[in-house]
Amino acid sequence: MVRPEGPAMTADLAGPGAATAPSWLTAMFDEDDVAGLSLPASATCDIHGRTTSPAVARDFTARTLCGWDADDLVPDAQIVVSELVTNALRHAPAEPAGAPPIRLRLVRHRFHIGCGVSDASARVPALSPWSDLSESGRGLHLVDALCAAWGWILTRGGGKVVWALFDARSSY
Ligand SMILES: Nc1ncnc2c1ncn2[C@@H]1O[C@H](COP(=O)(O)OP(=O)(O)O)[C@@H](O)[C@H]1O
Ligand SMILES: [Mg+2]
Repeated sequence: MVRPEGPAMTADLAGPGAATAPSWLTAMFDEDDVAGLSLPASATCDIHGRTTSPAVARDFTARTLCGWDADDLVPDAQIVVSELVTNALRHAPAEPAGAPPIRLRLVRHRFHIGCGVSDASARVPALSPWSDLSESGRGLHLVDALCAAWGWILTRGGGKVVWALFDARSSY
Protein backbone atom coordinates (compact mmCIF):
# COMPACT_ATOMS: atom_id res chain seq x y z
CA MET A 1 0.00 0.00 0.00
CA VAL A 2 1.37 3.39 -0.91
CA ARG A 3 0.94 5.69 2.05
CA PRO A 4 -0.29 9.22 1.49
CA GLU A 5 2.30 11.74 2.57
CA GLY A 6 1.59 14.96 4.35
CA PRO A 7 -1.70 16.03 5.82
CA ALA A 8 -4.88 14.20 4.83
CA MET A 9 -6.50 15.74 1.80
CA THR A 10 -9.81 17.48 2.16
CA ALA A 11 -12.40 17.74 -0.55
CA ASP A 12 -11.37 21.37 -1.11
CA LEU A 13 -8.00 20.25 -2.47
CA ALA A 14 -9.33 18.50 -5.54
CA GLY A 15 -6.84 17.94 -8.32
CA PRO A 16 -7.30 16.07 -11.57
CA GLY A 17 -6.13 12.56 -10.88
CA ALA A 18 -3.27 13.69 -8.72
CA ALA A 19 -5.05 13.81 -5.39
CA THR A 20 -3.82 11.90 -2.38
CA ALA A 21 -6.53 9.80 -0.77
CA PRO A 22 -7.58 10.86 2.71
CA SER A 23 -6.23 8.47 5.33
CA TRP A 24 -9.68 7.16 6.35
CA LEU A 25 -10.29 6.10 2.75
CA THR A 26 -6.85 4.53 2.33
CA ALA A 27 -7.35 2.55 5.55
CA MET A 28 -10.50 1.00 4.11
CA PHE A 29 -8.43 -0.67 1.41
CA ASP A 30 -5.60 -1.82 3.64
CA GLU A 31 -6.52 -5.09 5.29
CA ASP A 32 -3.76 -4.74 7.90
CA ASP A 33 -5.09 -1.36 8.96
CA VAL A 34 -8.62 -2.63 9.25
CA ALA A 35 -7.86 -5.00 12.13
CA GLY A 36 -8.81 -3.46 15.44
CA LEU A 37 -9.61 -0.01 14.07
CA SER A 38 -12.87 1.78 14.41
CA LEU A 39 -13.62 2.32 10.74
CA PRO A 40 -16.24 4.39 8.95
CA ALA A 41 -19.45 2.83 7.64
CA SER A 42 -18.89 1.03 4.36
CA ALA A 43 -20.57 -1.30 1.89
CA THR A 44 -18.96 -3.49 -0.78
CA CYS A 45 -20.15 -5.09 -3.97
CA ASP A 46 -18.11 -7.62 -5.96
CA ILE A 47 -18.20 -7.11 -9.72
CA HIS A 48 -18.15 -10.26 -11.78
CA GLY A 49 -17.12 -9.02 -15.19
CA ARG A 50 -20.49 -9.24 -16.86
CA THR A 51 -21.87 -6.69 -19.28
CA THR A 52 -24.52 -5.86 -16.66
CA SER A 53 -21.90 -5.06 -13.99
CA PRO A 54 -22.00 -1.25 -14.36
CA ALA A 55 -25.79 -1.40 -13.89
CA VAL A 56 -25.36 -3.57 -10.79
CA ALA A 57 -22.86 -1.01 -9.46
CA ARG A 58 -25.29 1.86 -10.13
CA ASP A 59 -28.16 0.08 -8.32
CA PHE A 60 -25.92 -0.82 -5.38
CA THR A 61 -24.76 2.81 -5.15
CA ALA A 62 -28.31 4.18 -5.17
CA ARG A 63 -29.47 1.75 -2.46
CA THR A 64 -26.44 2.40 -0.26
CA LEU A 65 -26.48 6.18 -0.52
CA CYS A 66 -30.24 6.35 0.10
CA GLY A 67 -29.67 4.21 3.20
CA TRP A 68 -27.14 6.85 4.32
CA ASP A 69 -29.60 9.69 3.64
CA ALA A 70 -27.39 10.99 0.83
CA ASP A 71 -30.07 10.73 -1.85
CA ASP A 72 -29.01 13.95 -3.58
CA LEU A 73 -25.58 12.48 -4.37
CA VAL A 74 -27.06 9.45 -6.12
CA PRO A 75 -27.13 10.77 -9.73
CA ASP A 76 -23.50 11.96 -9.75
CA ALA A 77 -22.22 8.97 -7.77
CA GLN A 78 -23.97 6.55 -10.14
CA ILE A 79 -22.22 8.09 -13.15
CA VAL A 80 -18.86 7.99 -11.39
CA VAL A 81 -19.10 4.36 -10.21
CA SER A 82 -20.34 3.35 -13.63
CA GLU A 83 -17.28 4.92 -15.29
CA LEU A 84 -14.85 3.45 -12.74
CA VAL A 85 -16.33 -0.04 -12.97
CA THR A 86 -16.39 0.12 -16.77
CA ASN A 87 -12.73 1.18 -16.73
CA ALA A 88 -11.75 -1.66 -14.42
CA LEU A 89 -13.51 -4.15 -16.70
CA ARG A 90 -12.08 -2.64 -19.86
CA HIS A 91 -8.56 -1.54 -18.98
CA ALA A 92 -7.41 -3.82 -16.16
CA PRO A 93 -6.10 -7.05 -17.69
CA ALA A 94 -8.02 -10.21 -16.88
CA GLU A 95 -7.47 -11.22 -13.29
CA PRO A 96 -4.67 -13.69 -12.68
CA ALA A 97 -5.95 -16.90 -11.07
CA GLY A 98 -6.65 -16.36 -7.39
CA ALA A 99 -6.59 -12.55 -7.62
CA PRO A 100 -9.43 -10.76 -5.85
CA PRO A 101 -12.35 -9.72 -8.05
CA ILE A 102 -13.08 -6.18 -9.12
CA ARG A 103 -14.77 -4.67 -6.09
CA LEU A 104 -16.75 -1.51 -5.50
CA ARG A 105 -16.61 -0.10 -1.99
CA LEU A 106 -18.60 2.87 -0.72
CA VAL A 107 -17.49 4.61 2.46
CA ARG A 108 -19.24 7.23 4.57
CA HIS A 109 -17.02 9.40 6.75
CA ARG A 110 -18.42 12.48 8.45
CA PHE A 111 -19.29 14.88 5.62
CA HIS A 112 -17.76 12.87 2.81
CA ILE A 113 -18.72 9.83 0.84
CA GLY A 114 -15.96 7.94 -0.93
CA CYS A 115 -16.17 5.26 -3.55
CA GLY A 116 -13.33 2.99 -4.63
CA VAL A 117 -13.11 0.39 -7.36
CA SER A 118 -10.32 -2.17 -6.92
CA ASP A 119 -8.78 -4.13 -9.75
CA ALA A 120 -5.79 -6.42 -10.15
CA SER A 121 -3.79 -4.17 -12.50
CA ALA A 122 -1.08 -1.70 -11.44
CA ARG A 123 -1.61 0.31 -14.62
CA VAL A 124 -2.94 3.66 -13.49
CA PRO A 125 -5.71 5.77 -15.01
CA ALA A 126 -4.73 8.79 -17.10
CA LEU A 127 -6.93 11.65 -18.25
CA SER A 128 -6.84 11.70 -22.05
CA PRO A 129 -6.47 15.05 -23.82
CA TRP A 130 -9.99 16.35 -24.51
CA SER A 131 -11.22 16.08 -28.07
CA ASP A 132 -14.72 16.95 -29.29
CA LEU A 133 -14.36 14.33 -32.00
CA SER A 134 -13.12 11.39 -29.98
CA GLU A 135 -15.61 8.75 -28.87
CA SER A 136 -13.40 7.52 -26.05
CA GLY A 137 -11.38 9.15 -23.31
CA ARG A 138 -14.35 10.94 -21.75
CA GLY A 139 -14.97 8.79 -18.68
CA LEU A 140 -12.34 10.27 -16.40
CA HIS A 141 -13.29 13.79 -17.50
CA LEU A 142 -16.80 13.02 -16.24
CA VAL A 143 -15.40 11.64 -13.00
CA ASP A 144 -13.21 14.72 -12.61
CA ALA A 145 -16.17 17.05 -13.17
CA LEU A 146 -18.60 15.28 -10.83
CA CYS A 147 -16.57 14.52 -7.72
CA ALA A 148 -14.62 16.70 -5.30
CA ALA A 149 -11.40 14.73 -5.80
CA TRP A 150 -10.25 11.45 -7.28
CA GLY A 151 -7.10 9.43 -7.61
CA TRP A 152 -5.71 5.96 -7.13
CA ILE A 153 -4.00 3.89 -4.47
CA LEU A 154 -1.56 1.14 -5.45
CA THR A 155 -2.16 -1.91 -3.29
CA ARG A 156 0.25 -4.39 -1.77
CA GLY A 157 -1.04 -7.23 -3.93
CA GLY A 158 0.03 -5.45 -7.14
CA GLY A 159 -3.34 -3.96 -8.07
CA LYS A 160 -4.93 -0.61 -7.34
CA VAL A 161 -8.03 1.18 -6.16
CA VAL A 162 -9.36 4.08 -8.21
CA TRP A 163 -11.30 6.30 -5.81
CA ALA A 164 -13.52 9.36 -5.90
CA LEU A 165 -14.74 11.59 -3.11
CA PHE A 166 -18.05 13.44 -2.78
CA ASP A 167 -18.93 16.25 -0.43
CA ALA A 168 -22.07 15.16 1.40
CA ARG A 169 -22.41 18.30 3.53
CA SER A 170 -25.58 19.40 1.81
CA SER A 171 -27.12 15.96 2.42
CA TYR A 172 -27.01 16.04 6.21
N1 LIG B 1 -8.86 0.86 -14.04
C1 LIG B 1 -7.96 1.20 -14.97
N2 LIG B 1 -6.86 0.41 -15.17
C2 LIG B 1 -5.92 0.74 -16.09
N3 LIG B 1 -5.98 1.84 -16.88
C3 LIG B 1 -7.05 2.66 -16.73
C4 LIG B 1 -8.09 2.39 -15.77
N4 LIG B 1 -9.00 3.39 -15.86
C5 LIG B 1 -8.56 4.22 -16.82
N5 LIG B 1 -7.41 3.80 -17.35
C6 LIG B 1 -6.62 4.46 -18.42
O1 LIG B 1 -7.05 5.82 -18.49
C7 LIG B 1 -7.51 6.09 -19.82
C8 LIG B 1 -8.65 7.09 -19.78
O2 LIG B 1 -9.84 6.53 -19.23
P1 LIG B 1 -11.25 7.11 -19.65
O3 LIG B 1 -11.22 8.60 -19.53
O4 LIG B 1 -12.30 6.41 -18.87
O5 LIG B 1 -11.38 6.79 -21.20
P2 LIG B 1 -11.70 5.43 -21.98
O6 LIG B 1 -12.14 4.41 -20.97
O7 LIG B 1 -12.77 5.79 -22.95
O8 LIG B 1 -10.39 5.04 -22.65
C9 LIG B 1 -7.90 4.74 -20.40
O9 LIG B 1 -7.82 4.74 -21.81
C10 LIG B 1 -6.85 3.83 -19.78
O10 LIG B 1 -5.62 3.89 -20.50
MG1 LIG C 1 -13.55 4.80 -19.51
